[in-house]
Amino acid sequence: MVIFIRSVKAMQRLARGWRRVGARVGFVPTMGYLHAGHVSLVRRARRLAGPKGKVVASIFVNPTQFGPTEDFARYPRDLKMDRKLCAQAGADVVFAPDAKEIYPKDFSTYVVEQELSRPMEGQSRPTHFRGVATVVAKLFNIVLPDVAVFGAKDFQQAAVVKRMVRDLNFPVKIVIAPTVRERDGLALSSRNKYLEEPLRRQAIVLSQAIAKARAAVRRTNTVQAGALRSELRGLIEQQPAARVDYIEFFNPDTLQPVKSVDRRTHMALAVFIGSTRLIDNAALNGKGD
Ligand code: PAJ
Repeated sequence: MVIFIRSVKAMQRLARGWRRVGARVGFVPTMGYLHAGHVSLVRRARRLAGPKGKVVASIFVNPTQFGPTEDFARYPRDLKMDRKLCAQAGADVVFAPDAKEIYPKDFSTYVVEQELSRPMEGQSRPTHFRGVATVVAKLFNIVLPDVAVFGAKDFQQAAVVKRMVRDLNFPVKIVIAPTVRERDGLALSSRNKYLEEPLRRQAIVLSQAIAKARAAVRRTNTVQAGALRSELRGLIEQQPAARVDYIEFFNPDTLQPVKSVDRRTHMALAVFIGSTRLIDNAALNGKGD
């Protein structure tokens, strides 16, 4: 059975007890409405924590990482199903705090990563990573994990969290797990719920664009970023409901854009399908997506 905790104090008390007895703690932060991608992270945390360890999954739709015109209020929620999936995946605790406890009325302290947060998602969503870094730092201080698992689906987020952990000396190991996809290539996301036909069908263009970029570097070794971007934009915008936000080619360590794309390059893109904004990314060597 999975223990359900709502209060910060109770979670921190339990975590401090685990620390005292030397139990290894694995942690998966989420915003809920869980799918097989989230479940794969909880299973990974279970393996990393070991049979004597503890696994916590948090479910918190974090208001500070949403922009004023974004989907915070209508973000999908299903706590009952989430508890069931976490239990099945081997979590010991589901921590689902109240917003009022995480952000008291006079909350005034934020964590800002100033380098990796700037391009791509940071440019399109200026306060997004400040919200992510702040809530992840708070959750680490509450859950006190030894290891935390993040998904490669949000590559830039994982990079920002890793940098924050290094820069602020959190005693937490960050593990990145691969992106789980539908059979047709669409990366699983809680936001896929918004996609009704025919939008769902059009959403496969994100992974098709990645496949096309991979094929291009396989064929010619190097391609100019500008030319490849135009080609992919053309492919994507053949879908009537698709509008490209960005397509970026970058060094996966620095997130700095490259002019010349090759097998070492990583690609990320954000595309509106109707009013739903989807993101995807992958290494162009065909590994480590
Ligand atoms: P959320 O979007 O719920 O994602 C929680 C975790 O699941 C993240 O690490 C994300 O990268 C991972 N994930 C999502 N889709 C995935 C997929 N298809 N395959 C593998 N992993 C996937 O990311 C957040 O929540 C929030 O920003 C959070 C870190 C919880 C802070 O609020």
